[in-house]
Amino acid sequence: MSSRRPSERRLSDRRGSGMSSRRPSIDPWRLIPMDKAIHVGGSDDFNVVFIGAGNIMFGSDEGPWNHSFRFEHKLGRRLKVVALIDPAIDRATAVLQKKCDSFVVSAYQDTRVFKTLEDFVRNMAPKDRPRAVIVGSPPMFRGSLQPGRDIEMQILKYFPGVAMFIEKPVATGPRHEIEDGFTIAKTISDSRTICSVGYMLRYLKAVQMMKRIIEENNLTVMATIARYACAYEAIAKPDWWDKSRSAGPIIEQGTHFCDLSRYFGGEVDISTVNAHSLEWDENAGQLSKIKIDESKIAPENRVPRVTAATWKYDSGAVGSFTHIVALQGTNYSCELEVYADGYQLRLVNPYVQPVLYIRKPGDDNEQAVRFPDDDPFFSEVSNLIDIIEDIEEDPEAAQILSTYEDAVRTYELTWAIREATEKSRAAKLQASAEAAKAQKTVDA
Ligand SMILES: NC(=O)c1ccc[n+]([C@@H]2O[C@H](COP(=O)([O-])OP(=O)(O)OC[C@H]3O[C@@H](n4cnc5c(N)ncnc54)[C@H](O)[C@@H]3O)[C@@H](O)[C@H]2O)c1
Repeated sequence: MSSRRPSERRLSDRRGSGMSSRRPSIDPWRLIPMDKAIHVGGSDDFNVVFIGAGNIMFGSDEGPWNHSFRFEHKLGRRLKVVALIDPAIDRATAVLQKKCDSFVVSAYQDTRVFKTLEDFVRNMAPKDRPRAVIVGSPPMFRGSLQPGRDIEMQILKYFPGVAMFIEKPVATGPRHEIEDGFTIAKTISDSRTICSVGYMLRYLKAVQMMKRIIEENNLTVMATIARYACAYEAIAKPDWWDKSRSAGPIIEQGTHFCDLSRYFGGEVDISTVNAHSLEWDENAGQLSKIKIDESKIAPENRVPRVTAATWKYDSGAVGSFTHIVALQGTNYSCELEVYADGYQLRLVNPYVQPVLYIRKPGDDNEQAVRFPDDDPFFSEVSNLIDIIEDIEEDPEAAQILSTYEDAVRTYELTWAIREATEKSRAAKLQASAEAAKAQKTVDA
């Protein structure tokens, strides 16, 4: 049976302020699938507010994400979703109706729908005060200090001390607003608010095994090589194809692999980020199976087909990342390689069926380790709840692996990559224009 844990110091360690570049890790064998998890003991209600009634919160055909489902399994009958906040009232009402028609009705029968958090606060009975606020609204409505895009600051104001979960990326606003992100991060850490950000790949068993190998062998990472090839045919959201809405595929999607790279390589020296892109209007960038009408998107806002970046970590190690919009069908092709003296750790297919290929000293052959039934979305939620509940069971067990500050640093890296590609492209266009002008002069 679990007991409550008094240690203040350890709580702050486990909450993770995000101040160190060496982030905590979890024993990979403690990351168990939902059907093997034991419910947190107790019979008291666990009030939760969901912000956003979309795919990440309630699931879709697009992937395995569905936070409500994981909360239901983690908390069982204790879960009470006191409010669902979404300006799309019809969508919110429809997802609630589905829940109320199912066996999880006890968590949703009293859920109230509001357009804004303020509306909820104005109408909240004291017994409805949440223990956690889960934010799955689009990033364009958060991660800044601007009114209407400052949900984190609103939560901190209305519910001081209440835990937060924020989806990735932390924002998609203009680059100069990254500083707002760091201000939010400082406010969160100064107020010792529990906060986890949705970089769920950190919770993969395979990723934690990689961490363990590095820690146990006292290795220093020399290089990270990440490749993310998405299946563009399956991406039917017009916003995704429009940089003015989603900020582009590196900031919105590749962010997961930029984050994983940082998880292994440490802090990035942002001034060293270099990148090139293959753009939609170049010969090699033509795609035949885009599901949306790209002609409706302004040319300057269309997404690059390939983005290839390199950088130096503060440690001296080198990172590289290639994002590719080329595959059709539905499955993505993603790999992360981490190198250290004598070691190659190669993570393959982390979204669908993770396999870790390990090469170590003494054997030139790779050893493959497979991880069937791993559910990083559940592990992410499970760890957050255990931290909120302050479970003593084992001090090693629960960790928040992605803090807000850490996530802002990943956001900063992705913005730096986007800007570097735009700089390279502008330089190339200028060089071509100058060459054409020179040629004209010669011809004349
Ligand atoms: N970790 C992952 O693998 C993963 C997977 C999917 C989505 N996500 C992230 O989750 C977030 C949401 O994505 P989604 O696919 O659920 O989008 P979605 O479009 O399906 O849903 C977003 C919902 O938020 C609502 N909304 C809009 N403005 C709002 C506001 N100001 N307050 C509250 N709700 C608001 C919309 O009406 C909509 O119902 C994005 O940041 C996305 O990157 C992460």
